[in-house]
This record gives sequence, C-alpha cells and structure tokens, in this order.
Amino acid sequence: MQKMLAGNPVIPVITLDQVEDAVPLAEALVAGGLKVLEVTLRTEAAVEGIRQIIKHVPEAIVGTGTVCSEEQIKLSEDLGCQFMISPGATDNLLAIGSKSSVPFLPGISTVSELMRGMEYGLENFKFFPAEAAGGAPVMKAMAGPFPNIKFCPTGGIGLGNALDYLTLPNVMCVGGSWIAKPKDIREKRWAEIEQLAREAAAIV
Ligand code: 3PG
Repeated sequence: MQKMLAGNPVIPVITLDQVEDAVPLAEALVAGGLKVLEVTLRTEAAVEGIRQIIKHVPEAIVGTGTVCSEEQIKLSEDLGCQFMISPGATDNLLAIGSKSSVPFLPGISTVSELMRGMEYGLENFKFFPAEAAGGAPVMKAMAGPFPNIKFCPTGGIGLGNALDYLTLPNVMCVGGSWIAKPKDIREKRWAEIEQLAREAAAIV
C-alpha cells in the first residue's frame, strides 16, 4: 500500500450514482494528477463503475471504499481492485482482510482499535472520522507509541487542512470527497473536478 501511494498522497473518495459517470470522472481525476481512486460500495452503480474504470482508464489505481462485509472483501478481490478500505475494523473483517492478497485498510479512531488491528499483523489503517475524532493532533500523538504504523486519515478533510496531516511522518495519504463531490459528479462537472484534482495534487 505504501509503495502504491508513493507520489499519490491524496485519494478522492468517490460515490457514483450512475455507471456512465465512472469513466469521464476517472479521466478527469487522472488528468488532474490524482491516480489512486477509492470508489465507495454504497451505491448500485459502484460495481459496474469500478469495472469500467479498470477497463478504460488503465492509469488509475482503483480500490473499494466503505467495505463493511466479508462479501464486499470478496467482491473487491474479484473486481481486481488494488486496495480496499473500510470505515471500521470488526474482528471478522480484520481476520479476512489481513489474509487477502489485496491490501486492506481498516478504519480506526482509537488506540485500542488500532492495537486490535495490529494483532492481525496490519500496519496500515484508515483514521476515520478524522476531524471529528480529533484530527491531526491524534495522528501526531500516535506516532510516539506506534512509529511503524501508517495512516490514511479521512472524514472532514479538504484543501484547507490536508497539509496538517500530510506533514506528519505517520500519514501516508489523506482521503476525501471534496474533490469529486456527488453533486458535481451528477452534474458532470468534469472540468471543475479536474481543476480540484489539480489543486489537491499540488498540495505537497
Ligand atoms: C467517506 O468514506 O465518506 C470518507 O471518509 C469521506 O469523508 P468526507 O466526505 O468528509 O471527505
């Protein structure tokens, strides 16, 4: 996961309502400089949208988001996703995800949740909901006892605060929906999304 993210520290979190939007959206994001794309499994269009992006936008590195079940882990593997991200970390997901050939990023927001994930041999975690759970100071505090753990904070992050996280040694990337907002996707605002991607790519 860390290798994949090298040079790609901002991940747009995408919620797709229509399959037809998947390819032009991914093209806009890639053109703006963001290659690592998280497509949430929250909508019906997500699965076919992921298939289309993988097929037609080969430069994109596509993963699933909002992975909440064993079936969705299996689905992510079958789709050929390159990573999968969960907002949480149940024992069931940790057991299956930690053994998958696809990098799995469970979500944590407390030290004990983190330690439970570490018991499964995991070293990379989503920090969610980042801002509501205490933000960059929490990440900073966790670097002391857990120097080998790397995080991808998500939740409430935007252009204004991304750098607060990205300057920390234990933050490998940040994720957020601010680049490809569901409304902008629905309205097919590809040029604006590309511009937001360009700004996000220029943060670091
Ligand atoms: C999510 O899974 O929705 C992400 O955490 C995005 O959070 P955001 O909408 O606050 O960027």
